[in-house]
Amino acid sequence: MRLPEAESGGSESDRTGDPPTTFQVAPVSSLWVQRLVEIDSTWNPHSWSQKLFERELLNPSSRIRGVFHKELLIGYLIAHVVIDEAHIVSFGVHPDWRRVGAGRYLLTDYLRMARLEGVKVVTLDVRVGNLAAQGLYRAQGFQAAGLRRQYYSDNGEDAITMRLELYPAR
Ligand SMILES: CC(C)(COP(=O)(O)OP(=O)(O)OC[C@H]1O[C@@H](n2cnc3c(N)ncnc32)[C@H](O)[C@@H]1OP(=O)(O)O)[C@@H](O)C(=O)NCCC(=O)NCCS
Repeated sequence: MRLPEAESGGSESDRTGDPPTTFQVAPVSSLWVQRLVEIDSTWNPHSWSQKLFERELLNPSSRIRGVFHKELLIGYLIAHVVIDEAHIVSFGVHPDWRRVGAGRYLLTDYLRMARLEGVKVVTLDVRVGNLAAQGLYRAQGFQAAGLRRQYYSDNGEDAITMRLELYPAR
């Protein structure tokens, strides 16, 4: 499968620590639905079906961004935008590609895009036990804004709602 036309690129360290690898971020097209299902199923106890991803791809409020290594989708982020607010509904990197900066690169890119389209506030929910994701969000400036008790039905875990205010694009 070929990489959709890339909109941005960046250099990050390779997971082997060897020569730097180029990641690219681009919108995700329907060609990648199977791969979205595959990545999601590696971490989501409420895995999304192919139909659900297809619906997202058709949803005008959805922004679906992918991070690619060469021509392979290795992670994705889905946000719903309503006027000037965005809520990140799904975000994950394939386990083979974690801890090499792909998640940070994708999130940073999405926040830049959101600012450019006039989003003022970005929110998300994260499991209290998901310290990896919380570390990433905090480093991007997100702050805890509330607690949803027993939000996740698979294990009754609480969710922390996090919030980031974006400065308007100049
Ligand atoms: C959260 C997730 C997207 C991070 O992606 P990633 O590509 O591995 O993250 P990066 O390599 O860009 O790391 C960025 C920062 O996140 C934090 N982080 C990521 N993985 C971490 C881990 N296992 N333990 C602690 N901190 C971690 C660190 O602050 C890290 O910065 P550092 O490398 O300078 O220490 C990835 O772990 C994932 O897909 N998890 C499963 C799905 C998920 O939890 N999604 C979020 C739902 S709210």
